[in-house]
Amino acid sequence: MADALQRELSYAGVRFATFIDLDDADAEPAQSEGVESAKSAEGVENGQGANADASVPAASVPATSVPAASTIATQASEADVVFVGFWCDKGSCSPAVQHFLQGLVGKRVFLFGTCGFGESDEYFAQILERVRAYLPVDAQYIGGAMCQGKMGMGVKRRYEGMLEKDPENAQARMLIDNWNKAQIHPSEDDVSRIAAAAKEALEGIAE
Ligand SMILES: Cc1cc2nc3c(=O)[nH]c(=O)nc-3n(C[C@H](O)[C@H](O)[C@H](O)COP(=O)(O)O)c2cc1C
Repeated sequence: MADALQRELSYAGVRFATFIDLDDADAEPAQSEGVESAKSAEGVENGQGANADASVPAASVPATSVPAASTIATQASEADVVFVGFWCDKGSCSPAVQHFLQGLVGKRVFLFGTCGFGESDEYFAQILERVRAYLPVDAQYIGGAMCQGKMGMGVKRRYEGMLEKDPENAQARMLIDNWNKAQIHPSEDDVSRIAAAAKEALEGIAE
């Protein structure tokens, strides 16, 4: 998702100063369930506005040598806007992302995320509200968008176990149905929608 979003915004002329992968030990529960747990923070130099024509290669930090959150926050401090990507972890974001957000003093921030349940904009909005609450008071939340993401195989097995025990269990059927629907996400449409929201947010600050 982060790569695709960065690509779309680069096409639109946004110049990326840096790209940081926040993957670390906090992501272990996700990996154990087969969920890709990459989280990312992207810093955008937006001094030229969203229509800047130059784009620079993104610098990246390998997942194996993740710097301290404070170091990452310092790198992000060079950016006019910080795009923070996250996967929904128990209704919010993972601790690594929480810490990163807390360090974004005075920054403009756009949030983008994935979560297992994807059919309710209200649900997305609730998650975004919880996640943005980690920003310092003087950070400026410029917007956010979410889409559905895949869930691990272990999750599906758990739902199937519920159904085996009780074949009439309508909730288990709904959960399995949702798990299956999640397999095609994030889709190209999801990326386009999130990129459109990001562009709108950048236009909002350029005015
Ligand atoms: C430990 C854990 C907790 C999760 N909590 C939630 C949750 O509260 N709500 C939700 O919709 N999805 C939840 N999920 C599902 C993940 O958000 C989903 O698998 C992830 O966003 C997929 O992203 P991806 O397709 O970009 O890899 C959870 C997954 C794990 C592993």
